[in-house]
Amino acid sequence: MENSLQQLKAEAEEALCRISDKAGLEAFRVKYLGRKGLLSSTMKQLGSVAKEDRPRLGQLANTIKKGVEDLFADSKEKLESGGGAVAADMDLSLAGRTIGFGKCHPITQVMEEICAVFEGMGFAVAEGPDIETDYYNFEALNIPKHHPARDMHDTFYVSDSILLRTHTSPMQARIMEDRDPPLRYIAPGKVYRCDSDITHTPMFHQVEGFLVDRKVSFADLKGVLTAFTQRMFEGDLPLRFRPSFFPFTEPSAEVDIACVICSGKGCRVCKRTGWLEILGAGLIDPEVMTMVGYDPDEFSGFAFGLGVERIAMLKYGIDDIRLYYENDLRFLEQF
Ligand code: PHE
Repeated sequence: MENSLQQLKAEAEEALCRISDKAGLEAFRVKYLGRKGLLSSTMKQLGSVAKEDRPRLGQLANTIKKGVEDLFADSKEKLESGGGAVAADMDLSLAGRTIGFGKCHPITQVMEEICAVFEGMGFAVAEGPDIETDYYNFEALNIPKHHPARDMHDTFYVSDSILLRTHTSPMQARIMEDRDPPLRYIAPGKVYRCDSDITHTPMFHQVEGFLVDRKVSFADLKGVLTAFTQRMFEGDLPLRFRPSFFPFTEPSAEVDIACVICSGKGCRVCKRTGWLEILGAGLIDPEVMTMVGYDPDEFSGFAFGLGVERIAMLKYGIDDIRLYYENDLRFLEQF
């Protein structure tokens, strides 16, 4: 009897230490302190022990019961005041683990900033699929099969008619086909080309933009792009429009910005030219307008596609695009 009383005491004390919620506390009360609980039933056996042992064992049983009841009340109070039961072997003086907070990747941050600048000029944002059809990526943009312009795209094909989009321009065709002018949209997203060096990665980001209305001219395009670069780079960085060719715009231009890494003196990033190309642009080709069902005599528009990584490199003075994709926290944490 004495042994089982002592054992019960040890058991109850250990069980109390492990309790961390109210349900556990109630289960403990029923099991040890309840009317039909372990303590009561052990005490009932007092009737069958030798008469001379009875007073001593009775006293012991009462002391143990009182002890367990007090401990129970303590734990209950701690739990109710939010403290919780504390295990004897827990060292509360140990330093805690620091929680690292994640944040957006610098490319995402820059992409969001670009979108915000255009949204401020009244452009709406639309997103489209990364896995695109040959039709929207090429045909609808006036690049038929066997057109030499396809060579420039280094396309990853999924099948004969399905590919990973090589630019965000398919969104021009998708949106124009769906809606009537006037339209003012930007379409940010990932694009893919089989290419890799210090200024190219096989996956990169573009933001497409276009505007269609009556009497839209090249001057409108210049105005919008100049306003954009002024806001994005917070100041007057020289811009340069170079005549170029895209099958879906006419006339077309490539737009360069003065290299901020070498201030235009020439370095390995700008390939010693002092300029960095940040986007392609032009007036939407009447052929593209006709394919989506617009009358090119009534409507005109401009479009541009800008490279997000290029802009992020310029903004932060990063001279190797691959740094953005190595996921080295020492690099990423600086943004
Ligand atoms: N899609 C072109 C590219 O990726 C850029 C561009 C977009 C050019 C819109 C003109 C108009 O190179």
